[in-house]
Amino acid sequence: MESTLQHSMICSLAWLLAMSTLLALPELSCGSMTRRYKFDIRLQNVTRLCGTRSIVTVNGKFPGPKIMAREGDRVVVKVVNHVTNNVTIHWHGVRQLRTGWYDGPAYVTQCPIRTGQSFVYNFTIVGQRGTLLWHAHISWMRATLYGPIVVLPKRGVPYPFPKPYKEIPIIFGEWFSVDPEAIIAQALRTGAGPNISDAYTINGLPGPLYNCSKKDTFELKVKPGKTYLLRMINAALNDDLFFSIANHTLTVVEVDAVYVKPFDADIVHITPGQTTNVLLHTKPSPPDATFLMAARPYATGSGTFDNTTTAGLLVYLPSNASSSSADVKNLPLFRPTLPALNDTAYTTNYTGKLRSLATAQFPANVPQTVERRFYFTVGLGTSPCAKNQTCQGPNGTKFAASVNNISFALPTSAALLQAHYFGRTKGVYDTDFPDTPPFPFNYTGTPPNDTFVSNATKVVVLPFNTSVELVMQDTSIQGAESHPLHLHGFNFFVVGTGFGNYDPSKDPKRFNLADPIERNTVGVPVGGWVAIRFLADNPGVWFMHCHLEVHTSWGLRMAWVVNDGALPNQKLLPPPSDLPRC
Ligand code: C2O
Repeated sequence: MESTLQHSMICSLAWLLAMSTLLALPELSCGSMTRRYKFDIRLQNVTRLCGTRSIVTVNGKFPGPKIMAREGDRVVVKVVNHVTNNVTIHWHGVRQLRTGWYDGPAYVTQCPIRTGQSFVYNFTIVGQRGTLLWHAHISWMRATLYGPIVVLPKRGVPYPFPKPYKEIPIIFGEWFSVDPEAIIAQALRTGAGPNISDAYTINGLPGPLYNCSKKDTFELKVKPGKTYLLRMINAALNDDLFFSIANHTLTVVEVDAVYVKPFDADIVHITPGQTTNVLLHTKPSPPDATFLMAARPYATGSGTFDNTTTAGLLVYLPSNASSSSADVKNLPLFRPTLPALNDTAYTTNYTGKLRSLATAQFPANVPQTVERRFYFTVGLGTSPCAKNQTCQGPNGTKFAASVNNISFALPTSAALLQAHYFGRTKGVYDTDFPDTPPFPFNYTGTPPNDTFVSNATKVVVLPFNTSVELVMQDTSIQGAESHPLHLHGFNFFVVGTGFGNYDPSKDPKRFNLADPIERNTVGVPVGGWVAIRFLADNPGVWFMHCHLEVHTSWGLRMAWVVNDGALPNQKLLPPPSDLPRC
């Protein structure tokens, strides 16, 4: 890490001057600095559940290292690939204003970093503060390549909630006893659903509810009478999660690096790709008990899923620090109650409480008018089995997934962004992605007989600064399911949601355009729809996909091309010279 001494001295002086004269600090990049990291992608033996696997890691760490920055800082990460797998890294939720080259999704904004190659990611975090995550963005490599991003507010800017005594990342993952790359490769070959994970993890540790795992338990040691900020991240591949701490209420204060109106919850629901900051107020005096914190899935699909429970321990340190931790063993252990695995009523109620803070300092800049409207179905489907093959998907077909019935095919010869920037899109992508479903049907009723998807690489092209409203509609093809949809390059506002089919004549009347939640990943309710709005003010090519990795693999993905604006500061910056080639 580095900073320029001179620069920071000038900034301190500016600060003093501003404070003493009660002037507002000018919006200079004052105090901002460059944070440098090196990510060596290498193999590391890791033992979980009594099995050892050589996994792909960053710097031998699992989960990977934490990226720490302040709002306004530049982050520079040199990624060097020492493994045989291709790799890219995505900074999930970082807006990448005009720097789409560093966004990370393979074949969308860059070609993969191959064995022995390196790539330097270089971006500035503008107008965001809170918890995000980084993860690999190619195939299923993110199963082991993930870690937290913590963006602190600018120096001297407080949180809009009581200052926590300590801040702790709580990152959920999924542990596979076999190579996840083999699992998805086999599933795509046979057309069947992929094998499920063997455990969920909290900070890489499955916890005591699994066989041979007691020693691999995350312990959160707390003092009584304090407030802790838990920075929760769902980095699991394929599962929404419920999380709760026995006998403790959590106060939700931020999601996806956006402050929310605080509210209390005993149980948090978090989809893959989402983050949630909560305040944990510890008991005023040591309670002479230990508390389990646990997470298990919220699952709505008709396929099999890992229905196990990961757990950690909330341990109170005695006020007299001299007592040994051996005492803990004899204390009673309390367990949280988690909702049923398919408790949609709970998730609906919970997500309904999320509201933007929407203050003068942290406004909710919801587009009040809409220039382009889109209606996308999201859901599963099938692809025909190749001749002279037998397939293990529905009725001998292969599982697929789509947006508006298009299973999005990634290009192989160039990344979409390169093709766009250099104007060589022919043979890479088409620009006629449909605004509405190609054939209407009762999306959440009886599915059509023909469930085959089409395969194509089509994008939506938007002029700079277009205000967009997108309704995403779940379908019941191969079973309704809730889909956590993630949009790269933007935050969006969740202006409406409901069950059944979206009704354009009635539903918009109930839209919240005042303080809707702002985020980068939203769960489309099972058998329902969600309406989002965003302003296309970031030129580039932006991936949008289901953050259930199996659905992304099956094609539940598409891309938006946002053209440059007229002004110099409205244009995509030129590509870096070390951008990997396909
Ligand atoms: Cu966290 Cu495109 O993903």
